[in-house]
Amino acid sequence: MTHPLFDLSGRVALVSGAAQGMGRSMAIGFAEAGADVMICDINEAGVKATAEHIQTLGRRAVPVTCDITNIEQIRAMFAQLDREFGKIDILANVAGPAKLHKPEEIDLDEMGKIIHGLLIARFCSCQEGGRRMLKAGKGSIINFSSIGGVTALGRGNFAYSVGMGGVAQMTRELSTEWSGRGVRVNAILPAQVINPGLEERMKVDPNLEAMFLRGIPIGRLGRPDDVKGLAIFLASDAAAWITGAIIPMDGGNLAQNAGGTPGPRNA
Ligand SMILES: NC(=O)c1ccc[n+]([C@@H]2O[C@H](COP(=O)([O-])OP(=O)(O)OC[C@H]3O[C@@H](n4cnc5c(N)ncnc54)[C@H](O)[C@@H]3O)[C@@H](O)[C@H]2O)c1
Repeated sequence: MTHPLFDLSGRVALVSGAAQGMGRSMAIGFAEAGADVMICDINEAGVKATAEHIQTLGRRAVPVTCDITNIEQIRAMFAQLDREFGKIDILANVAGPAKLHKPEEIDLDEMGKIIHGLLIARFCSCQEGGRRMLKAGKGSIINFSSIGGVTALGRGNFAYSVGMGGVAQMTRELSTEWSGRGVRVNAILPAQVINPGLEERMKVDPNLEAMFLRGIPIGRLGRPDDVKGLAIFLASDAAAWITGAIIPMDGGNLAQNAGGTPGPRNA
């Protein structure tokens, strides 16, 4: 039997980056806990496949093809949400750009694009969702940051870390502004969670996985489904007094070394 505090029946969730990885796991997790979902991704076939899977669970799932770094497309998606569902209870901002650059080499336009995608566009989504939730007097926003958002990694994640640091601080500010009016805002900070991009990098550099694992006391990399329990908790009434929290989901990484993964300097 599941505890009623975790029941999301009757709630509507919007999840970005839901074609694969943690966005997909979260969307499925919300639906398994009873929510209906609008899910978006730039991968049209992938997001449709996730929606079809959720529909087999007996929940409503509306797939949207949306570039979550594009302000017009974000606003159009929220307008569609109004038409389809007429409300939003849970907003999960998962997708965002990530690229490796050395700080001494990064082009400023490229830096601007990454910061825009991670921070300004994500804020736009928070603003659109937050306005609707404030009107209703309730809601839960879950922003994805990274361990790199609260500690320096020193591995070429420069623009990404700076943007994710902004996401953590945006989460604290929005929580402080909005939680008194019923809208909780929290952030999840993953360490290395397996995805196709990471698998590719680990194939190219056979030492990478061992280096990551030196920083993960639990002894394995994360899996997309590791986010499900935390996401359902933050979305649900079980987390009624949890807001402004910047929560590591990192197999113990931040506790061990307050930062990233020990490895050769400049690797
Ligand atoms: N995987 C990790 O190790 C890790 C660690 C820290 C933080 N994060 C953050 O967590 C989030 C999810 O990571 P993941 O590993 O599940 O990702 P993933 O690569 O498995 O999936 C990302 C999804 O987002 C979609 N996407 C990418 N750009 C988009 C855009 N502009 N608009 C709409 N959709 C877009 C992709 O098509 C894909 O379906 C990301 O924000 C990532 O930066 C991941």
